[in-house]
Parts: sequence; C-alpha cells; structure tokens
Amino acid sequence: MTQIAIDGPAGSGKSTVAKILARKLGYIYLDTGAMYRAVTYHALLKNIDLACESALRNLVDDIVISFEGERVLVNGLDCTDAIRTPEVTKNVSKVAMDAYVRQQMVARQQTIAGEQSVIMDGRDIGTHVLPKAPYKFFLVASSRERARRRLVDFNANGYQMSLDEMVEDIERRDKLDSEREHAPLKQAHDAILIDTTQLDIEGVVLKIMSYIHLDEKSVSS
Ligand code: CDP
Repeated sequence: MTQIAIDGPAGSGKSTVAKILARKLGYIYLDTGAMYRAVTYHALLKNIDLACESALRNLVDDIVISFEGERVLVNGLDCTDAIRTPEVTKNVSKVAMDAYVRQQMVARQQTIAGEQSVIMDGRDIGTHVLPKAPYKFFLVASSRERARRRLVDFNANGYQMSLDEMVEDIERRDKLDSEREHAPLKQAHDAILIDTTQLDIEGVVLKIMSYIHLDEKSVSS
C-alpha cells in the first residue's frame, strides 16, 4: 500500500491531476475538500451558526459522508453538485477552521488511507493527515491563473462571476486557510513544490509521475 499527498491552494489543479493519477495507478482518490464542503452544505441547509462550535459538533456527529466513484453522498443522499455552489464555496473555510470538524474529517481520511493505496488532495494532507506519506506534492500557481481556471469550471456549472471577483474569492479563502490555527494550508517540509502556472494538466501529471517509483518506496507504519 502506498500514499500520495497533494496539497495546495484553490485552483492549483490538485483534483484534476489527482483523479488522473489515481486512474493511472489504480489507487483510490479521496477529495478531502469535498468532505469539508459536505459539512458546510449541511450546516447551511440546517441554518446552523457556522461559528457555533457545539452546533457544528452535533452536526458532524450526525452525518455520514461517503463516496461512490466521483459522487459524494451525505447520509446516503447525493450532494455532489450541491457542495459546489458559490454559497458553499464562500463559507467552507469558516467551517474548515473548526477543530472538532477537522479532527473528525482527518480520522475518517486516515481510516480510508489505512485500507488501500490512496491519492488524497487537500490543504493539510502532507502535514497532518498523512505525515508519513512517501510522496508529497505541493501545487501552486499565480492567483490570477487559478482564478481563470476556476472561472471556467464555474461558468460550465452555470454560475456567473467576473475574473476580479474570482481572484478576490480565492485570495480570501487562501488567507483564511493559511492563517487558521489548526492544520493550516502549508507546504510540508518534505513535499515537492510544483508551480503549475505555465503547465497544462498533462505536464503536471508527467512531472509527478517522474517522481513516483513504485518499487522503491512503501508506507512506513
Ligand atoms: O476545490 P477547491 O480548491 O476550491 O477547494 P476544496 O479542495 O474543495 O476545499 C474547499 C475548502 O475546504 C478549502 O478552501 C479549505 O478551507 C477546506 N479544506 C481543508 O481545510 N482541508 C483539506 N484537507 C481540504 C479542504
């Protein structure tokens, strides 16, 4: 069994690259951002005060997040599209700050990683979730390029926003994610930094694959 951790800010290309790598390598792909989004979606649905620790605690204890291929289910109900709305995106970093929410999500992520070879993307995979992962990558790109990429996804989903608004949105989220107290967005000291500003998806996949030597490393337990 092995583990690949891919971290980085919004729009750095983590999830697209991770999905391709998972297919190539035959690993499970785990989108940890989808888990924080699922909690946020449910909190908004239930009108919970996102700053209220006890309300978030009760909510998290009450929901089961599962994956069926690329579909995300909460308590058995498909919420794949609902977790990508602008409202969830705007609020997710507040929910992801909560220590209990993080503790529960990380425990679930570590359980999955203990059962099969995984490629996981997020903000704290290399630093907190899988600190012993033999392969760690930290993807970055300029905020304008990341906003441009995000806008393409957004428009494809029928949402409208200007490029400037998108830059503002991702920079605000980067700031919240990087400055939070628990498991902030940060490059692990042993992660390989890849600037994707000038690279297309295939270029990033090739670069990562050039570091992966499946026979030489395995997860130390
Ligand atoms: O896809 P995008 O980059 O927009 O974000 P995401 O991966 O879906 O993650 C959404 C949010 O969840 C991030 O902005 C973080 O606030 C939070 N997150 C986190 O705190 N830790 C993770 N491992 C993954 C996501």
